Amino acid sequence: MATRQLIIAIDGPSGAGKGTIARTIARWLEYRHIDTGAMYRAVAWKALREGLNLADAAAVARLASDATFGLEGAVTIDGEDVTDAIRTAEIDQAAAIVARHAPVREALVARQQRYGEQGGVVMEGRDIGTVVFPSADVKLYLDASPDERARRRAGDSAHALGRRPGPTDAVARALEERDESDRTRAVSPLMVAPDAVYIDTTGVPIADVTRQVEALVKQALARAVEPQEADRNR
Ligand code: DC
Repeated sequence: MATRQLIIAIDGPSGAGKGTIARTIARWLEYRHIDTGAMYRAVAWKALREGLNLADAAAVARLASDATFGLEGAVTIDGEDVTDAIRTAEIDQAAAIVARHAPVREALVARQQRYGEQGGVVMEGRDIGTVVFPSADVKLYLDASPDERARRRAGDSAHALGRRPGPTDAVARALEERDESDRTRAVSPLMVAPDAVYIDTTGVPIADVTRQVEALVKQALARAVEPQEADRNR
């Protein structure tokens, strides 16, 4: 008997804990971890660098479909390391704008589906369980209260580079605006897939969330045991 490699989809708003959980689960299973938000951010960064108008959906989509991405360890676009450059307030805003364009999403979703088609992947984003992999083996939606998400973002060094330290309520306002844009956009808005497991991480230690997710993954692994060729032909 062999166990098929799973597709694990993790969606939710910013600051809900997706990154930490996705990385931990990927390391545990020795799966690839794909942060799809980093792809939208890298495209926004490159569009700004090339002087494109972010409202020009066709031009940004062309850039997205021609680009090559590196997403393991460092984040690269067309060979350029943008790991730190994409974590600024300017790119927060620019990424939310490019993520609203249907042709940009089509280009990136196609790429994400190729990354995950063999399984063995933990993919985090906003539309993984709803659009990218609607039949993912494990679908999670992580959430937390707006206050807690803002606090986490304000204290998260990966998202604080290149910013002046600001009061938490400024972070909270910017975060709420972007989340509102993600939730209300016409194409693939952030929403809970009907068959996703909804986890509210407000006030819950990360170790407890990890244990809960590990239990769900173990159940999915048990379901994914498939007979090998020899067993099937017997
Ligand atoms: O998760 P993040 O903050 O790095 O995402 C950056 C932006 O991209 C954010 O506005 C949400 C958007 N996004 C998206 O629309 N779909 C995804 N699968 C991932 C991110």
